[in-house]
Amino acid sequence: MAIDPKLNAIEFARNQKTTFLNSLKEFVAIPSISTNAENKEDMWVAAKWLSNKLTEIGIENVKIMPTDGHPVVYGDWLHAPGKPVVLMYGHYDVQPVDPIELWDSQPFEPMVNGDYLMGRGTSDMKGQVMASVHAIHSIMQSGSFPVNLKFLYEGEEEIGSPSMQKWIGDNTAMLKADFCLNPDAGMLDKNTPTLTKGLRGLVYFELKVFGPSADMHSGMAGGIIHNPAQAIAELISQMHDADGKVTLPGFYDSVYQMTAAERREFAQLPHDEVFFKKVSGVEHLWGEKEFIPAERLGARPTLEINGLVSGFTGEGQKTVLPAWAMAKISCRLVPDQDPDVVHQQMLQFLTEKAPNTIRWELRKLSGSPASVVREGQPGLKEMSDALVSMWGKEPVFPREGGSIPIVGYMQKMLGIGSVLTGFGLPDDNLHAPNERLHLPTWYKGIEALIHFFNNF
Ligand code: BES
Ligand code: MN
Repeated sequence: MAIDPKLNAIEFARNQKTTFLNSLKEFVAIPSISTNAENKEDMWVAAKWLSNKLTEIGIENVKIMPTDGHPVVYGDWLHAPGKPVVLMYGHYDVQPVDPIELWDSQPFEPMVNGDYLMGRGTSDMKGQVMASVHAIHSIMQSGSFPVNLKFLYEGEEEIGSPSMQKWIGDNTAMLKADFCLNPDAGMLDKNTPTLTKGLRGLVYFELKVFGPSADMHSGMAGGIIHNPAQAIAELISQMHDADGKVTLPGFYDSVYQMTAAERREFAQLPHDEVFFKKVSGVEHLWGEKEFIPAERLGARPTLEINGLVSGFTGEGQKTVLPAWAMAKISCRLVPDQDPDVVHQQMLQFLTEKAPNTIRWELRKLSGSPASVVREGQPGLKEMSDALVSMWGKEPVFPREGGSIPIVGYMQKMLGIGSVLTGFGLPDDNLHAPNERLHLPTWYKGIEALIHFFNNF
């Protein structure tokens, strides 16, 4: 009796659970932190590991392609004539691990703890990359595949994809596809299959404020020299008004205003104030009062201080007036804000507000616009059906607060939209200590992806 290839793929995936998990562990063990110069070689190790995996499962033309920054892994399988070409996206880079002392395990020694695999990148997004690879493998081993595949795995997502715009521009013909499948957007919770409808953009700055040419005795400088730590705090404190609005000049001018219908959709999303208090551990939320939290995350722009350093932060006391202060500042952007315009607004703000008692420098580190998924986007229906098969209910379609720069670049430069999904959860501790992957959801995700491909 012939085996139904569809059942065969699911059965294969179920039999391979341990092998699949072990290969994810190997991948997670590579410290591919894109922002750290000392991990530059590890980026190549991760790219090589991934390209070997693609080759192993039968993907062709696999190559590691250099960019101005970290390399891209490309591959394809184009033997389903008349069927769509699906561009599989993923990033093999991860966030830094600090503060390392708050981890309960080693970030690059993945280990299973109950239902979770612990380790940096397990959820964001090596787990998601491997869910795709394992799903494709499960179908491929039965001999054929229902669609054509191309793979684009980058190593710069977590630093704003600075080289990807140029690299995509240089490779548009190779990347031609009907749509992109991007599993980097996650789920609202483990019982809520999610197809993300929009992502925010991001522009990232480094602001330095300089005072005296070297640190000084605070008794000999305090009161006559403007302290850079104080000056940067004064500048930062003026970047929001008392209502939580960003005060950069013109910041809200091009912000897309939600329609009443869009606001009703936001109101229907499952997460309320109580949920956000619970996941964050704060007693009171903050922000624009006239919008509910889901709107503030999905459809309103923000400005955040990501980090702040100056002067003496060691043990005990030291009386010093520091020579400099530095802040990492980023803005989440919504349609139709332009990252370069926001950069100009920040420059104008500093030019107008900075006192002549200090000197400042602003560097823009990266910038990418927001993205929205269009109605009728190819692949959405097939993914929605696949999620229904696994979760037994229709997915929700939120606009999310995070950013994935390449989604906008693919739309603009390749003319293709993205199906934004994924099997990461909001309490996976993304970018934080003890990042983890909920394994039951991950296995479900692998099966969902098998259904997705078989829906074509
Ligand atoms: N997976 C996230 C993006 C994400 C998070 C989408 C939550 C939807 C919900 C991604 O890896 C990420 O963190 N991106 C960075 C991009 C930035 C550096 C341009 C981000 O959002 O901070
Ligand atoms: Mn991330």
